[in-house]
Amino acid sequence: MGQLDGKTALVTGGTAGIGLGVAKRFVREGATVYITGRRKQELDAALEAIGTGAVGVQSDVSKLTDLDALFTIIKERSGRLDVLFANAGVASLAALADVTEEEYERTFDINVKGMFFTMQKALPLLPDGATVILTSSVNASQGIPSMSVYNATKAAARNFARSWAAELAGRGIRVNSISPGPIETPGLLGLAGDDVDARRELKENFARSIPLGRTGNVDEVASAAVFLASDQSSFTTGAELFVDGGLAQV
Ligand SMILES: NC(=O)c1ccc[n+]([C@@H]2O[C@H](COP(=O)([O-])OP(=O)(O)OC[C@H]3O[C@@H](n4cnc5c(N)ncnc54)[C@H](OP(=O)(O)O)[C@@H]3O)[C@@H](O)[C@H]2O)c1
Repeated sequence: MGQLDGKTALVTGGTAGIGLGVAKRFVREGATVYITGRRKQELDAALEAIGTGAVGVQSDVSKLTDLDALFTIIKERSGRLDVLFANAGVASLAALADVTEEEYERTFDINVKGMFFTMQKALPLLPDGATVILTSSVNASQGIPSMSVYNATKAAARNFARSWAAELAGRGIRVNSISPGPIETPGLLGLAGDDVDARRELKENFARSIPLGRTGNVDEVASAAVFLASDQSSFTTGAELFVDGGLAQV
């Protein structure tokens, strides 16, 4: 028996990194999982890696027309959405003085507007008792330099979880956030560019600052996501579950 047997789930940004790890685990736990991403090639590769149990929809969370098309497909094929993992997000490094309007808008459009309208448009498909998980970050509660725009978007995600948990509690819909620390994904390593040595150095620097002495992996986030998606967390809502090796805790 899987912990998500018979459930229908959506993982936005499910073609790489944390989202792909979570989608794989949700399928293993018995769910039918819709995954989204903007790039077709990565979407196809992810579907291949997951195997049966996943449905791919090419979709950009920052475009409301894409979201409408996505939820029309889910409604027609499945009729409901038991688990929403709103995860699509982007990060970049820039000092306060160097942030451009374009980069500010891109980051807020995907991480904040994208998450907000994913939730709003998912709402008619969520049955009473559905579960929603929002990917925030340790950066939501830390002042990490050269990431102020990203940090603020993740603080918004953290508050969305509180606000929507309050608003939807009457229907038994639970909304929680997961705040990962540094997790080895294409997105994290991409902060160091393409150079192999720079990527190793980035990982080592993170590892030195983390109490458990290493970066995390996507399976460790997937375990937290299954907990929050399933009845195992039936009395937990509005919470923030850190998966950060102690980075923001001690
Ligand atoms: N890795 C970490 O250390 C870490 C720590 C804390 C929080 N997080 C958060 O965890 C989430 C996933 O991060 P990750 O490291 O796994 O990133 P990643 O490796 O870069 O993967 C990001 C995924 O999101 C998709 N995506 C990006 N923009 C999108 C958009 N506009 N619409 C739909 N899909 C989009 C990407 O596909 P396409 O590019 O093809 O669209 C990809 O599938 C993000 O919200 C991130 O802020 C990550």
